[in-house]
Amino acid sequence: MKMQSEDVGITARATSIVDEMKKLEGPLLPILHEIQNEFGYVPREALPVIASGLNLSRADVYGVVSFYHDYRDQPAGRHVLKVCRAESCQAMGGDEMADRLRDALGVDWHETSKDGAVTLEPVYCLGLCACSPSAMLDGEVIGRLDEDRIGEIVAEVRQ
Ligand code: FES
Repeated sequence: MKMQSEDVGITARATSIVDEMKKLEGPLLPILHEIQNEFGYVPREALPVIASGLNLSRADVYGVVSFYHDYRDQPAGRHVLKVCRAESCQAMGGDEMADRLRDALGVDWHETSKDGAVTLEPVYCLGLCACSPSAMLDGEVIGRLDEDRIGEIVAEVRQ
């Protein structure tokens, strides 16, 4: 029963967002951003609402959601750690730092730790190439990843 009322709440809020934003030029991406801002992810229940509001098929909407890695289909952990996987960071040892982070946090890419503390996501350049290898924790960039910084990140997400 609780689940059904949550679904109704998601549908109602998604309908409101679609109604507010559907007149924008190219409204699909802004609507998806707003829905993810609202819920922390793009709930499955919102997809038919968006499709109907924009006169698209559900497959069209799902295709866009699944194409862009920034959209989540379930809530993220309390912290979101993005680790750069692009060339400059790779050249500066980013793969090794990423492996150490995955081991220390016990998560793989696109996963959330079992305790809900952290979601790990790959990104492809944070604009911080001069300080490679780089990461971003909850929107704050972290340059020159090394053992010390990895220890700080792990301590931060476990607080
Ligand atoms: S390649 Fe990693 S920040 Fe640019």
